[in-house]
Amino acid sequence: MLDALDVRSGHRVLEIGTGTGWNAALLSHLVGDENVVTVEVDKALAAEARARLNAAGYTPRVVVGDGTIGYGKGSPYDRIIATASVQVIPSQWIGQAHPGAVIVAPWGPAYGGEGVVRLVIDETGRAEGRFVGSSAFMRMRQQRRRLPVTERFVDPQTWPAEADLSTTGLSPDDVGDWIVMFAIGVQVPDLFLRITYGEEGAYRMWLFDTGVTSWATADYLKSRTTFQIAQAGPRRLWDELEAAYSWWEAQDKPSFERFGLTTRGGPVCKVWLDAPDNPAPTPSVEEPSPGAHGS
Ligand SMILES: C[S@@+](CC[C@H](N)C(=O)[O-])C[C@H]1O[C@@H](n2cnc3c(N)ncnc32)[C@H](O)[C@@H]1O
Repeated sequence: MLDALDVRSGHRVLEIGTGTGWNAALLSHLVGDENVVTVEVDKALAAEARARLNAAGYTPRVVVGDGTIGYGKGSPYDRIIATASVQVIPSQWIGQAHPGAVIVAPWGPAYGGEGVVRLVIDETGRAEGRFVGSSAFMRMRQQRRRLPVTERFVDPQTWPAEADLSTTGLSPDDVGDWIVMFAIGVQVPDLFLRITYGEEGAYRMWLFDTGVTSWATADYLKSRTTFQIAQAGPRRLWDELEAAYSWWEAQDKPSFERFGLTTRGGPVCKVWLDAPDNPAPTPSVEEPSPGAHGS
């Protein structure tokens, strides 16, 4: 991540997520501690990190606060690095950085999968760039979602309840890799999953939408080549997942490094493949019908 950040001596750097203080020490070494601001939401962790940094001979500014709003008093920055992940690039980070500044942050959709993105800010406040690899950071505290409980969709004891049953040749095991989850998550942004485990490696994969309209299950059993699917509600969530997987497969199963992201900050962002003019598709989603299940 520090390679991607490409810090130069004298750059002003904002780090979000001080944690132990280790990365802040590296940054202090690289650009001079007077140029480093590091923000930590946890007061006790910040105090411990400050003490550790001081003991190592560094005195960067350690701020206790919510890093999703940046730290305006230390701006403008040449480089911003987040060491906790986001689903939304905060507009404050862009607003507190120079044009030409670089943001390096772990980014991931609600479904799962996450990569480190390297964004360069242009004169108009647009941040754009490629992913440089996969990552698995804790989510920034303010961007953690309280996902609706399963019982808001269906009582699991009544499975398959009113669902339509079908089978598929796509194994739930083939859609569980981090990059596959990422590719699915960027195409179906309101999808999330839970797994319930059975015996001898069997499991049931539950799919839900954050709007609480629909659910689906896919049952994995060892040594099977077809898998039972149940889908209920106005959307067919397994079909949406399968379409998203098929797109990724048809693109030669791209790795994180072929994906990129464009945003001006806030929830609107475009994830693209190879070039900004080639956005990942977002399958059309039917409007939930009034009184839809669980709404
Ligand atoms: C993976 S750790 C960071 C590691 C750290 N850079 C180091 O060198 O040890 C993530 C940190 O982000 C902090 N964090 C989570 N949400 C935050 C937020 N909104 N603002 C600032 N820090 C946050 C957590 O408390 C945790 O200490």
